[in-house]
Amino acid sequence: MYSLLRPLFFKLDAEKAHYTAITGLQTLLKIGGKSIVTNPINSDKRLEREVFGLKFKNPVGLAAGFDKNAKWIEELDQLGFGFIEIGTLTPKPQDGNEKPRLFRLKEDNALINRMGFNNEGVEIAIDRLKEVRKNKANKANIIIGGNIGKNKITPNEEATNDYLICFDVLFDYVDYFVVNVSSPNTPNLRELQEKKPLTELLQTLQNRNQEKQEPKPLLLKIAPDLTNSQLDDIIEIAKETKLAGIIATNTTISRENLKTESQKVESLGNGGLSGKPLKNRSTEVIAYLHQKSNAAFPIIGVGGIHSPKDALEKLEAGASLIQLYTGFVYEGWELISKINKEILLTK
Ligand code: FNR
Repeated sequence: MYSLLRPLFFKLDAEKAHYTAITGLQTLLKIGGKSIVTNPINSDKRLEREVFGLKFKNPVGLAAGFDKNAKWIEELDQLGFGFIEIGTLTPKPQDGNEKPRLFRLKEDNALINRMGFNNEGVEIAIDRLKEVRKNKANKANIIIGGNIGKNKITPNEEATNDYLICFDVLFDYVDYFVVNVSSPNTPNLRELQEKKPLTELLQTLQNRNQEKQEPKPLLLKIAPDLTNSQLDDIIEIAKETKLAGIIATNTTISRENLKTESQKVESLGNGGLSGKPLKNRSTEVIAYLHQKSNAAFPIIGVGGIHSPKDALEKLEAGASLIQLYTGFVYEGWELISKINKEILLTK
């Protein structure tokens, strides 16, 4: 069904298409009911996974950035995702960068974005999460991750406080946390991936977490542009601060191996590249972390998954779960069931 709708969405500006698609989905669900998009294969018991103490109904999740403000959790759940990551949320609402800030590279099955953590702020998301959690069926089924960041105006030296605010506010409403220091679109954010500031940030968050009666899994999301020596640091820090896992990877600042004309790519300006061109590098990072750490922690694999084969590659490289963003935009919700079907076949 999505293949029929895609040409219509792709006629629109990329950011507008995002909202049109989700409004269309809401209407579709209202008229046709859940069964119009729900594929029972996504709830097959054999797909269940227990990772960092949480039970996922299937291993295919929605990556951060799609539902930044926790607005569409129930609709996205009905599409069959095994988990949904909201955010990146920051303490205060912020508009993000000037538009246009999201571009399609159709020839490459890719996107470039410089959204810049546009979000309504962590407090507003809570009101929506409360509603979702009221629904018992959802509470039992859908795992929600909270991806947290810092406001643009907060200097890096005060960043820890922003992460702590988001952590505290979200604590009762999400199942796991993701510390995002890997977006290329907030100036200097990625400097927080360096060993010293990162250890301090994660240790402070982990200390706060351990003060809670039931601490929650704390994960770190990393960029694909880190060197092997930086990845070695990440492994050490993950062990030292007892992270529950790593999400690999965010978007890349690289523009290598693109089919789209370089002049066109350059004219789009800065931003993170996602989709097919990111696939191999992201898998490489997953494999490196998995092997070098002796599988010391679970990895959520994300980056360029557009087919069941791409998904299996991530799982074979060492990912316990996977996430989609650009593949979901290009291939639609049917990709979730296609991947889950393939996973069942290869069992
Ligand atoms: C993202 N991504 C992202 N990641 C994150 O941690 N916080 C965020 O707010 C966002 N926002 C965002 C917006 C847009 C428009 C895109 C395309 C991506 C990154 C995303 O979660 C994922 O890590 C990468 O896009 C790589 O996966 P795909 O897209 O290749 O499947």
